[in-house]
Parts: sequence; structure tokens; C-alpha cells
Amino acid sequence: MLTRKIGPVTVSAIGLGGMPMSIEGRPAEERSIRTIHAALDAGLTLIDTADAYHLNAGETGHNERLIARALASYGGDTSGVLVATKGGHLRPGDGSWTLDGSPAHLRDAAEASLKALGVDAIGLYQFHRPDPKVPYAESVGALRELLDAGKIRQAGISNASIEQIDIALRVLGEGNLASVQNQFSPAFRSSEPELRHCAALGIAFLPFRPLGGIGRAGQLGARHAAFQRIADYRGVSPQQVTLAWMLAKAPVVIPIPGASRPESVTDSAGAAGLVLAAAELDQLDQG
Ligand SMILES: NC(=O)c1ccc[n+]([C@@H]2O[C@H](COP(=O)([O-])OP(=O)(O)OC[C@H]3O[C@@H](n4cnc5c(N)ncnc54)[C@H](OP(=O)(O)O)[C@@H]3O)[C@@H](O)[C@H]2O)c1
Repeated sequence: MLTRKIGPVTVSAIGLGGMPMSIEGRPAEERSIRTIHAALDAGLTLIDTADAYHLNAGETGHNERLIARALASYGGDTSGVLVATKGGHLRPGDGSWTLDGSPAHLRDAAEASLKALGVDAIGLYQFHRPDPKVPYAESVGALRELLDAGKIRQAGISNASIEQIDIALRVLGEGNLASVQNQFSPAFRSSEPELRHCAALGIAFLPFRPLGGIGRAGQLGARHAAFQRIADYRGVSPQQVTLAWMLAKAPVVIPIPGASRPESVTDSAGAAGLVLAAAELDQLDQG
């Protein structure tokens, strides 16, 4: 498995996004456990989650607890697996996503995530989304405190602009911003400037919703002809072509496709071994 770095930590170049296993449309737990085990079987060592990946009120941490159970019940060695979680979003249970980027909330949320994951320190803690009610530096300042207290090993941000990345760099201090997680897919390319910014700074860039999102990922080839054409030529899925195209953009890129079926995760993992030619990458950039 091709590997990449998040700070000093080596992870598989493709991660697993946990969201489809805990929000609307989630499968029975048994299938989710098989999906996470399939990811581990395929050599994936990065799993992305969040305290807000749940459905009903009172279920905060559903996805974190699921991942902890899957790791505990896996037969093999999981010591090299980085579980990256997030705080700053809430789900009241009516289908909406609300925000709380206050330092007090982030401190409490991190404590709850420590318990949900069953760890002494969180491997990567990401501020989920800027809260317009709270100055960005104050939210990121809470991550700095969590780092200093040893509650989190690395800090990241998500849904961040270049300006916010630079604020986080300043607040967290030299070398302490490990990752930026932004939306990036064939249909959503407007975060390419942030990707380039991260590449120049050596910060891991984690494209989220890389296949177009839950319920749309299956139509990727139908919506993006160049991806289907190259997939047909290569004899692989358009989803694999998409992830390989992202990996080729910069050595800091680590896509985190979500999955709720073992077949999806096994196929996505194959992207780490798919090297596209320069002419193919050009076509995908245009397509
Ligand atoms: N930071 C943020 O604000 C934010 C927002 C959204 C998502 N995320 C993170 O990013 C992750 C990925 O985003 P996402 O799950 O929303 O969307 P996505 O990765 O674009 O799409 C997920 C869907 O893709 C399908 N899929 C995965 N691999 C496939 C393959 N090789 N072939 C065909 N279908 C495949 C899965 O289907 P099955 O379910 O049938 O397996 C899954 O439902 C999330 O899980 C979450 O961890 C972060």
C-alpha cells in the first residue's frame, strides 16, 4: 500500500470515511463492522470520523464508538491505524447540522471523543467547520490547548480557506498544523487553491466527499465522461480513477472516500496502486 504522511505519522494514501455508516441510510452495525474490517484487510491505516456522525439526538459519538468496536474486534494488528476525529458540529436529531466552535464546546467535545474512541490521546483532532459566531483564532486556540495538554497528538482543520489555514498555522505554531480536510471531487474543484497551498507547506490535504457524496458516488462515471472513459480503458472503476487522479495532484493528498459496504472500500483501496499517465491526468483535469 502506498503511504503518505500526516505530520510525522505514516498512513495509507487512501483513508476510509466513516460517515455513511452512522448518518441517514446507515446499515446495520454488522455490515459496518465488516466494512471497517475490509478496510483494514486492504491495508488502510487512516479512518476519518467525527463526533457528529450520528442520526438521532443523544447519539453523539455513534461513529467513533463503532470504529472503536471494529478495531477491538479485528483479528490483526491495529496499532498503526490513525483514527482522525472532529469537533465543532452538532446534530440535534432533526436532520440538521449546527455549529459550535466555542473553545468551551471544543474542550468538552474532545473529552467526549476520547471516551468514545477509548483512547488516552486522539491521534488527529480536526476543527470541523468555522463557526461565524466565534473568531477563527479562538476556535483553533482550543486545539492548541488540547495539544499542549496531551489530549490530542495532532491538530487539523476542515472546511478552511487559505486565510483560515494561515490563521491556524499562526495559532498552532510552527509545524503544528498537520492536516486540512476540504471538499474536493470531479464535481467540486474549487478547493484546488487550498490543496496547492497545503502542498507548498507540506500539510496533509484530505479531500472529503471525493466521489461526489453519499447517494451520488455511484453515478460518478455517468456524470464525468473523462473519468468513465479512462476507467474503461484501464479496466477499473471510475471511482478508482478519481482517487488516483487526486493522489497524483500532490504527495500531501490523502482522499478519504466513505463506505458502508466492504466492496466499496476494497475497490477504493485499489486506487493507491493505480498510476495514471500525464496525458490521462490532463484529460481528467479538463473533464
Ligand atoms: N469535513 C467535513 O465537513 C466532511 C463532510 C462530508 C464528509 N466528510 C468525510 O469525508 C468522507 C467521504 O465523504 P462522503 O462519505 O460524504 O462521500 P464520498 O466519499 O464521495 O461518497 C461516499 C459513497 O461512495 C460510495 N463508494 C465508496 N467507494 C466506492 C467505490 N470504489 N465504488 C463505488 N462507490 C463507492 C460508498 O457507497 P456505499 O455506502 O454503498 O459503500 C459511499 O456511500 C466521509 O465519510 C467523512 O468521513 C467530511
